[in-house]
Amino acid sequence: MKARVLSGVQPSGQLHLGNYLGALKNWAEIQSNYESIFCIVDLHAITVYQDPKELAEKIRETAALFIAAGIDPQESSIVVQSSVSGHAELAWMLTCVTPLGWLNRMTQYKAKAEKQETVGAGLLQYPVLMAADILVYQAKIVPVGEDQSQHLELARDIAQRFNSMYGDTFVMPETRLPAVGARIMGLDDPTTKMSKSVSGTNHAIALLDEPSIVRKKIARATTDSQPAVDPENMGPGVANLFTIAHACDPFITKNSVAGMRYGDFKKLVAEAVVSRLEPIQRKYREITADRGYIDSVLLEGQRRVLPIAENTIRNAKRAMGLYVANR
Ligand code: AMP
Ligand code: TRP
Repeated sequence: MKARVLSGVQPSGQLHLGNYLGALKNWAEIQSNYESIFCIVDLHAITVYQDPKELAEKIRETAALFIAAGIDPQESSIVVQSSVSGHAELAWMLTCVTPLGWLNRMTQYKAKAEKQETVGAGLLQYPVLMAADILVYQAKIVPVGEDQSQHLELARDIAQRFNSMYGDTFVMPETRLPAVGARIMGLDDPTTKMSKSVSGTNHAIALLDEPSIVRKKIARATTDSQPAVDPENMGPGVANLFTIAHACDPFITKNSVAGMRYGDFKKLVAEAVVSRLEPIQRKYREITADRGYIDSVLLEGQRRVLPIAENTIRNAKRAMGLYVANR
């Protein structure tokens, strides 16, 4: 039997090159070796306010981008988190075995909470729900970008604690980072990670940005005061552009860019990105032209994974002594 893979992306903001290189590209590459489930985590998105109309659209847009980026809906299940109630149900059970101190330590929580006037309790619970996403399917492998490593360690800690309190119930999940692109930085500021929630026109490259926009953003990306690329001594901005280019086109190597003037280097990077995104954008347009297609994919995804989640919920309930009907 193939090992199970699970991962997710929030349907908030615009999916960007960091999401692609850190997550989606890796998913597409490994999907055929595993039984894969890829989630659009709408329940995570609402931990900060989302405009309801926009969120409903973003869920479908994100699903279409999964497919456009190479996720094959025949091979992998594409699932909206809220369409399988086991995620939220298990999250509550796990909440009850999670010490508050573990959640207060999460760096992403601390960073997000700082930006909010009032901090919703969901923001603190966010990583417990993430643990539930993984454990409800007994996933073995979780391919994510580096920013999720701490959340995954927590998921393991929660699984272990549940298992030791109530008996072996959950498989221990492993983190799988991509070899290149696990942490793509902002173009405007190469010391902060590229993120959906940072505003500013020159921060992120959206997967649906037109070629002219991609070229403009890369031309304006922050570098340093050197005139040309020194592969042994790249500043953070140049190193980030190099990572992006190499992840998009493995033929671009440190040797091949050595000594290039920054202007020419940026053009090379921009063309590598444009060529990577072009087929994704074409596929996206094809998919979204058919209004019913995405809904049918999401319904099929839900249908396939529902029995797995229901089985885990039943086991977790029994382990805890909650009510399970005798049938
Ligand atoms: P999010 O945008 O927070 O829903 O993230 C979805 C996936 O993309 C997760 O696996 C993240 O680790 C990954 N990801 C997000 N931002 C980046 C980034 N700047 N570099 C690499 N991976 C990222
Ligand atoms: N929290 C993740 C992020 O923002 C998304 C996510 C939710 C996830 N549930 C998951 C990733 C389960 C991997 C596994 O990047």
